[in-house]
Amino acid sequence: MTQTDMDVQQRLPFDLDRIRRDFPILKREIHPGKTLVYLDNAATSQRPVQMIAEMTRFYRDHNANIHRGVHTLSIEATDLYEQARQRIARFINAPRAEEVIFTRNTTEGINLVAHSWGRKFLQEGDEVVITEVEHHSNIVPWQMLRDERGVVLKYIPMLPDGTLDLDYARQVIGPRTKLLAVTAVSNALGTITRLDELIPMARAQGALVLVDGAQSVPHMPVDVQALGCDFMAFTGHKMLGPTGIGGLWARMELLEAMDPFLGGGDMILTVTMAQSTWADVPAKFEAGTPNVAGAVALGAAVDYLEALGMDAVRAHEVEITDYALRRLGDVPGVSIFGPPQAQDRGGVISFELEGVHPHDVGQVLDTHAVAIRTGHHCAQPVMAALSVPATARASFYIYNTTEEVDRLAVALEEVSRFFGVRA
Ligand SMILES: Cc1ncc(COP(=O)(O)O)c(C=O)c1O
Repeated sequence: MTQTDMDVQQRLPFDLDRIRRDFPILKREIHPGKTLVYLDNAATSQRPVQMIAEMTRFYRDHNANIHRGVHTLSIEATDLYEQARQRIARFINAPRAEEVIFTRNTTEGINLVAHSWGRKFLQEGDEVVITEVEHHSNIVPWQMLRDERGVVLKYIPMLPDGTLDLDYARQVIGPRTKLLAVTAVSNALGTITRLDELIPMARAQGALVLVDGAQSVPHMPVDVQALGCDFMAFTGHKMLGPTGIGGLWARMELLEAMDPFLGGGDMILTVTMAQSTWADVPAKFEAGTPNVAGAVALGAAVDYLEALGMDAVRAHEVEITDYALRRLGDVPGVSIFGPPQAQDRGGVISFELEGVHPHDVGQVLDTHAVAIRTGHHCAQPVMAALSVPATARASFYIYNTTEEVDRLAVALEEVSRFFGVRA
């Protein structure tokens, strides 16, 4: 290890050994003598024992259905579920806990907005603006709405460095724009979106703003009030929580004006054979038995992140990403996509190895127990803009170390040698 590498280690803002002890999976030997290096965090994070214990505790000691019961267990389960809502609301600085709707994931949150707000408030000819760097979950629901309702769908293109074309954005966001739906961080390239530029542009035209927070809420301090957005969708499984639970935050007056998403139990006030009336927000948007244990466990995941501090989480990620950009940049044949500076990225590095298909890169890295993702990352328009079929992507989280980046770089050097890539 060089002096610079030791400096990086010393600058890391928390005790990585202690954190790593909370994630038993990181000790797993994937192949004989080869311990897991998990660098697929943009797809899903690993889970700490504290979150797993909370989920187990819920099922072991408090399990019951919520909201409908008068017995002790049901009251306890309801309290735990609603407390989790409060913890999550605090985490994103939502003004009111009831403004957080539990969903299955980011995808469901965005679909909820397209269905319940879009179908009610958008007319033929109204414009929705998205961007070329969106995950499919922030493209397809708007295309469906366009095809069904005649809404006009426009997009802000990506520049070759992976940032958005803000000059184009100034032209495309206009008086007919009713919604700007944009990701805070690109999952395919890691680029951090200039929400500080885009949100005021949309606001100036009287448009609402939906932020896809799937890659920001887990990785950096997020304050929905400071951002000035109207909707924010996020997902629990990328932030130490269980799968199948996520959240949608929206301003209360919007939630009150919107129609329900799904109909059924728990979302009604009254039902007759002729018609029904709706429960108050958030119940209006949480039809049926929700993922109670998932919500409670997501609350524990949020506690874990808050104990570390989101400023420290972000600082660690910048250090690791900066280190990885330098290490990977030295591997013969590697080209890195996206902005050159770690400060302009989340903890994501998409790259290609000259002449080697990303799937082959991923498979060879797996023989070294290094887990990365290869493919289009559910962002096919980004691949089209880069003129590549796929990329290899390493993505980092709170437990990743510089040694793990070294193992990635050494394994890549071997792939490079194996496939005869020239320096
Ligand atoms: C930016 C972004 N948006 C949306 C999603 C979809 O998240 P989920 O599959 O949890 O709904 C992802 C997942 O990778 C993402 O990275």
